[in-house]
Amino acid sequence: MKILEIKNLCKVYGKGETRVDALKNVSFDVEQGEFVAIVGPSGSGKSTLLHILGGVDVPTKGEVIISGTDIGKLNETKLAIFRRRNIGLIYQFYNLIPILNVEENMTLPILLDGKRPDKKLLNSLVDKLGLRNRLTHLPSQLSGGQQQRVSIGRALMNHPAILLADEPTGNLDTENSKEIITLLRKFNRENHQTVIIITHDDRIALSADRVITIEDGRITKDTGKAEVSA
Ligand SMILES: Nc1ncnc2c1ncn2[C@@H]1O[C@H](COP(=O)(O)OP(=O)(O)OP(=O)(O)O)[C@@H](O)[C@H]1O
Ligand SMILES: [Mg+2]
Repeated sequence: MKILEIKNLCKVYGKGETRVDALKNVSFDVEQGEFVAIVGPSGSGKSTLLHILGGVDVPTKGEVIISGTDIGKLNETKLAIFRRRNIGLIYQFYNLIPILNVEENMTLPILLDGKRPDKKLLNSLVDKLGLRNRLTHLPSQLSGGQQQRVSIGRALMNHPAILLADEPTGNLDTENSKEIITLLRKFNRENHQTVIIITHDDRIALSADRVITIEDGRITKDTGKAEVSA
């Protein structure tokens, strides 16, 4: 099943002398359950692409279709709801709320959606992420790796159709990086969770099912869809 379709995506920042064509006619599809790495030089448009896929930025032209919904056709309110329910975002610097503890950070998006957190899911994520004895800690009381595990947990609490990660290991040492990637892989394999990850790390890219290279706003290489077992 196609979980993501991107058609002729263009993104222009600024105008006149400061105009930057950050994305130039980018198109590709992703099947459910794929683990895709996006690589490319600094400034090539990777984060821009991920932000547009995640509905936190809008394209200048083109379409993003997630699970059959053209997100460009949603109004602001509907998009916010769609985003909360379908997209999990993970950033390099975790973006946790400093005054909320681990459990509160993980359940916040669900509460914002006016729903009750799925306790069973929360418990299973807490165990899988090794956060059981850190539930009442604040982000400032956690290591970088632990903070990133909380942000993964937060992203997974709404059963997202797609998990988008922008250099999730960019701020971590080798050991913690490996652990984060192992966890993302585990969720990908066990739950058929679709993952799209931007990385500068060749080892992570090599471990992906598929690698898409972006240079100067265009896809210059795509190793193609992997065989994803249903
Ligand atoms: N808000 C903005 N206003 C103007 N130009 C921007 C803006 N955001 C990004 N750009 C430009 O768009 C281009 C793509 O930026 P982007 O952040 O997507 O690159 P990237 O591939 O993620 O780079 P990096 O690997 O360094 O994170 C860059 O040339 C950047 O300067
Ligand atoms: Mg970037």
